[in-house]
Amino acid sequence: MQILKTNTTPFDGQRPGTSGLRKKVKTFKQPHYLENFVQAIFDTQGDLVGGTLVVGGDGRYYNREATQIILRIAAANGVAHVIVGQSGLLSTPAVSCVIRKYKAHGGIVLSASHNPGGPDEDFGIKFNTANGGPAPENVTEAIYQRTTTINDFQTLETTDIDLDKIGTLQLHEMQVEIIDPVTDYAELMQSLFDFESIRNLFESGSFSMRFDAMHAITGPYACRILEEMLGAPSGTVINGTPLTDFGGGHPDPNLVHAHEIVSMTQGSNGIDFAAASDGDGDRNMVLGQNFFVTPSDSLAVIVANYHLISGYQKDKIKGVARSMPTSQAVDHVADKLGIECFETPTGWKFFGNLLDAEKITFCGEESFGTGSNHVREKDGLWAVLFWLNLLAVKKQSVATIVQEHWREFGRNYYTRYDYEGVNKEAATDLMQQLRNKLASLPGTQIQNHTIEYADDFSYTDPIDNTVSKNQGVRIGFIGGSRIIYRLSGTGTEGATLRVYLESYEIDPEKQQQATAGVMTPLISIAQELAQITQKTGRTQPTVIT
Ligand code: G1P
Ligand code: ZN
Repeated sequence: MQILKTNTTPFDGQRPGTSGLRKKVKTFKQPHYLENFVQAIFDTQGDLVGGTLVVGGDGRYYNREATQIILRIAAANGVAHVIVGQSGLLSTPAVSCVIRKYKAHGGIVLSASHNPGGPDEDFGIKFNTANGGPAPENVTEAIYQRTTTINDFQTLETTDIDLDKIGTLQLHEMQVEIIDPVTDYAELMQSLFDFESIRNLFESGSFSMRFDAMHAITGPYACRILEEMLGAPSGTVINGTPLTDFGGGHPDPNLVHAHEIVSMTQGSNGIDFAAASDGDGDRNMVLGQNFFVTPSDSLAVIVANYHLISGYQKDKIKGVARSMPTSQAVDHVADKLGIECFETPTGWKFFGNLLDAEKITFCGEESFGTGSNHVREKDGLWAVLFWLNLLAVKKQSVATIVQEHWREFGRNYYTRYDYEGVNKEAATDLMQQLRNKLASLPGTQIQNHTIEYADDFSYTDPIDNTVSKNQGVRIGFIGGSRIIYRLSGTGTEGATLRVYLESYEIDPEKQQQATAGVMTPLISIAQELAQITQKTGRTQPTVIT
């Protein structure tokens, strides 16, 4: 096997976004596109030479081919040991788990998360560092800078290896270890949760659950853990076979895209508990009978009840963190527990330093992401198991648990409006106009609401002092309501404008209203302030969650 040096030229636009480099498959398939990016990782991450690398992806179209390309480049660049999931598969939280468990020097995740898959859809690549988490901005920026000057890459001249067979093989001087993608992750879950109690809950016969894997990576994980290890009846996991195009669906666990599982919870015969996860297994949606738990509430409930879960009882809870647009529900819990609550920019990478420095135990985002210090990614199945364990201990319904939570802490009504595929210039202009008027807004009245503060969120990392500016426009009103505007950093077409709306209700008598009704005044203010229709031509959002 020979190492080949191939000449190449830089591609524009290889700067990673909120979560890695995401583009259409067609873009990734251009000769040298993936190669350049991967070589840039090796050129900037010196520890990988002679070190251990983890590789795995969510099984979407191009996952297999990309895995082979990466293995050849890794071997040519002197990586000593690669741990790769069987068939090139590993969920994102499992990559994080495996990096940490085997003290690898980094990992490459092949995924575009919840974006659709297939020859005409999306692909993505993300580098994770030795802590198991998404690379921080200084690392992604170094990789990007390297892609702008790259003029050759190294690869091994060899045929494809058999990725389906578990075991160890040699690729030139590099050892390739093909592992079962589920085992290490399942062991970690077993160490955190009381599997015995959950098993009893399933065996009681009076509890019904479905988990929708959306034809994505969590299928094998959920089948093994829920059905085989916890004794859930077979058929509990639906859409459990991973497909390269996710069955043509949009593997995003929310009320719109996961409507199949939502409908199973509805009506008087609705099931007791339902959950779904996304393309790469890091997102989750949790539902009770006729009841949707917002991700922001889910985080708050998890933190308020951590002491009931065996894996988290040993140590006192450190602090918590939420991304800026996530509702302030968890802030109220942190206040009561007397712990710190950090507000970070959007994206899981901002939690990494806080977790590593043991400043926080739990963290979450409104975008269906919840997690803890057990790995350095958000973790869909972990959240589902946390809820299952909670249901087993509390012996109450999902709705009762959340409603009692609201009575104690107040309810943060919450909704998000997404305007997808908006003209890029129009979206940038809308944000700029908002920024231009921020200074003049505090103290002004709009539709009977008084603006208390208005700013463009900027974050100084408390551990390494890195400053991240322009992270979203925040408009806060007297009484605790908020409107937040930001542009997505994960889209691959046009721009996506996200508008996040939140309003706080402390009075238990007023906590049972429909979210849409409560939000109507704020939505109207949000439209007026940003002139959404005038600037984008849209009268309605594409998705409401
Ligand atoms: C979105 C979510 C964000 C999440 C990211 C990756 O990013 O809003 O919370 O961390 O996906 O799953 P966005 O498209 O808004 O930049
Ligand atoms: Zn994801």
